[in-house]
Amino acid sequence: MARVRFADWLIGAAGMGALRSWLGADRAAVDGCVADLERLLQTRHEEPLLRLEVPLPEVDATTGYASWAGTYDVLPNPLIRVEEPAVRRFLGDVAPGRALDAACGTGRHAAFLAARGHRVMGVDTSPAMLAHARIRVPEAALAVGCLVALPIPSASIDLAVCALALMHLPELRPAVAELARIVRPGGRIVLSDLHPTTLLLGGGALFQGADGTFGRVAGWVHRLEDYVAAFTATGLEIRACVEPAWGEEELPLLAGPLYPLAPEALRAAFVGLPAALVWSLERQ
Ligand SMILES: C[S@@+](CC[C@H](N)C(=O)[O-])C[C@H]1O[C@@H](n2cnc3c(N)ncnc32)[C@H](O)[C@@H]1O
Repeated sequence: MARVRFADWLIGAAGMGALRSWLGADRAAVDGCVADLERLLQTRHEEPLLRLEVPLPEVDATTGYASWAGTYDVLPNPLIRVEEPAVRRFLGDVAPGRALDAACGTGRHAAFLAARGHRVMGVDTSPAMLAHARIRVPEAALAVGCLVALPIPSASIDLAVCALALMHLPELRPAVAELARIVRPGGRIVLSDLHPTTLLLGGGALFQGADGTFGRVAGWVHRLEDYVAAFTATGLEIRACVEPAWGEEELPLLAGPLYPLAPEALRAAFVGLPAALVWSLERQ
């Protein structure tokens, strides 16, 4: 089973901080990152947190979310902090109607839509995540189903949201086509995901289950050009696209107990880097 040292992530982040600062006017910032890097390299065999090595298996979405379901709404998630305001802004634009939360998980966006007066359906492949959604949004009609074969009639939905799930699919187009199928002409779709930049820089859907063990749900990079090609091919018009970035407040959540070991380098590495990708679309 794959074992990882979180020290490797922190050392990489310090290097990334130096890379992002080396051409800037702030010489102290790049010097601080290099100093952190040297200190981390010197202490990585002594400092208990840096020596820590844990199994971190890559698992498929069904296995991963079965383990993650119990802690998904309990442990703080920096990505959700960044993503949620942007998604809610787009969802809040749409008058109440028939809404679908596709890959609804524990019902985070479904609950928001229900509170705004929508008649809400939710679909997810994970029975464990859906069990939490049933408690959180009892008024929603929830079903097990897959993004590439939604159990929903064509053109029957006014507003669909699909949040933080498309990265788990190797190909975007089949799921985007399916969302385009179930939304009526003139209807809206809001999509969000971990930004591909974060995935390309070693990020991913890492979780800690209720038993304390770690895992990573398999993910695929979808570039902005892949999204645009999928929208164009399926008759979806882009109304807006936003790329909310990591801020200072997310750093302690991103780095957890490692944060105090290199706060300045983490700031230089992450603050301002796109964290989430959020689209607002209209069905033609
Ligand atoms: C990170 S969670 C996001 C849950 C929820 N949308 C939110 O934003 O809080 C990803 C969800 O996608 C679901 N999922 C992954 N692949 C899926 C697929 N092919 N079809 C439907 N759901 C899927 C998982 O079971 C999980 O509940």
